[in-house]
Amino acid sequence: MGLFFFFFSFCSRASSFCSGLLLLLLTVYGSTVRVVGVVGHNVTLPCAYDALSHGSLSFCWGKDAVPTFRCSNTIFSWTGGAPQSRWGPRYQLRGSLDEGDVSMTITSTDWSDAGVYGCRVEIPGPFNDLKVNIKLEIEEGELT
Ligand SMILES: *[C@@H]1O[C@H](CO)[C@@H](O)[C@H](O)[C@H]1NC(C)=O
Repeated sequence: MGLFFFFFSFCSRASSFCSGLLLLLLTVYGSTVRVVGVVGHNVTLPCAYDALSHGSLSFCWGKDAVPTFRCSNTIFSWTGGAPQSRWGPRYQLRGSLDEGDVSMTITSTDWSDAGVYGCRVEIPGPFNDLKVNIKLEIEEGELT
């Protein structure tokens, strides 16, 4: 928290340089992305890494924020081969895994899908894993 305070006071003077640093901090310390879905529609929760420089890496998706190890309430846990959802066919990986797009799509969302989802990509090196937490909010669709 002190670190953030330091950056905010520092930022009021050097702004553009600063927003970059803040972004870096969010990346390093983990961030929560907000995604809004509409009842009955498909929604995609974004998660991606640089597969060109790392090659294909293991990853997992779970319900709840990414814990210290692995994923909580694992939906996908992929280490090679074809990804299989443990939660059934509503949970899909439609992105190009070869390019590091491990975004997860949930089809025909319902209110009960709202909540936090976590994506972990096992980037080699100590404490190096990419962790993306996504807060999914569900809204009423337009009435026609
Ligand atoms: C959602 O995904 C399903 C299953 O892949 C597809 O059939 C449907 O057309 C999609 N719906 C929308 C609104 O894109």
